[in-house]
Amino acid sequence: MRYMIFSSVVASQKQLLRICISALHIFVSIFSTVLRWTAGECKNTISPNKHRDEKTVQSAIPTSVNYHFTRKCNYKCGFCFHTAKTSFVLPLEEAKRGLQLLKEAGMEKINFSGGEPFLHDKGEFLGKLVQYCKQDLQLPSVSIVSNGSMIKEKWFQNYGGYLDILAISCDSFNEETNQLIGRTQGRKNHLDNLYKICKWCQQYKVAFKINSVINTFNADEDMTENILQLNPVRWKVFQCLLIDGENAGEAALREAERFVISDQQFQEFLDRHSSISCLVPESNEKMRNSYLILDEYMRFLDCREGRKDPSKSILDVGVKDAICFSGFDEMMFLKRGGKYVWSKADMKLDW
Ligand SMILES: C[S@@+](CC[C@H](N)C(=O)[O-])C[C@H]1O[C@@H](n2cnc3c(N)ncnc32)[C@H](O)[C@@H]1O
Ligand code: SF4
Repeated sequence: MRYMIFSSVVASQKQLLRICISALHIFVSIFSTVLRWTAGECKNTISPNKHRDEKTVQSAIPTSVNYHFTRKCNYKCGFCFHTAKTSFVLPLEEAKRGLQLLKEAGMEKINFSGGEPFLHDKGEFLGKLVQYCKQDLQLPSVSIVSNGSMIKEKWFQNYGGYLDILAISCDSFNEETNQLIGRTQGRKNHLDNLYKICKWCQQYKVAFKINSVINTFNADEDMTENILQLNPVRWKVFQCLLIDGENAGEAALREAERFVISDQQFQEFLDRHSSISCLVPESNEKMRNSYLILDEYMRFLDCREGRKDPSKSILDVGVKDAICFSGFDEMMFLKRGGKYVWSKADMKLDW
């Protein structure tokens, strides 16, 4: 009897201990969640006037990332919103480490941009990153945006197999207009390059895309014939955007005010090209926060205040902490058609 009383006391004490431990677990997890949501770094370092949807912040996954690994460029487009404020480029292994962190955080598409991405190490740095992202990280989509002036056929031979999409920027099919915009270097002919690269893309099985910035110099142009001839998989048509500190304001390296067009002018351009099915329009509103932009230090750039405010580097604090400060608007990303068929393997292309 005494033994039974003793063992039931021990059992109830054990049960009590178990209850205490699980209560402690619950308390710790609630406490850490509350800490994360209410006193976490995210909230502490954003400026108090910024409204933030906590749900968006917590669930942001870097599905599609634009890595501007260099700011240097050989062109001088007068409206450029990512200018040569530094000449820094990460060492290759650090850039790869950052890309791996992004992949672990859910990245599916990487787009390399700049500055001019083919400039650094004559395109070898870019080629090695493209190869790493496709071969090692097995990303569904690897793409590049370039002005096209530095690309050699050899690059396609070495790295074309690892690239899904190559976008070449072309704002006019009139070479004089390209000169006026500054989309040129010396005696290089921007349009000759564009047509040459279009052919290489077919030859080396890379999906070819065109980006155009609509501005005061080209707003009245009709590009229908040329676009139909080049037949890109996608034609991105941007309304020229101002970013304080980049192409507007005191600290800026460019003064793009004279390039800015009204919403109506932009709409007229779109209407003129409404027969082109691959056209994807991006007004200023759609463009501003719908891109996850990583700069040369692998810091997310937040454009919500009309300038590019950097986060900490993902290399120092990890993707989850840095992305809190990206200002990324996932709804707008989806609304602008940011998610599309982006692997060349899934595109029904006539190679
Ligand atoms: C900054 S560039 C870097 C890549 C490359 N140098 C090029 O021009 O394609 C990336 C894209 O942004 C576009 N862009 C540059 N300045 C812009 C602006 N103010 N508004 C809208 N798009 C712009 C370019 O035309 C290009 O398609
Ligand atoms: S938009 Fe023009 S100046 Fe700016 S990075 Fe591209 S090519 Fe260079």
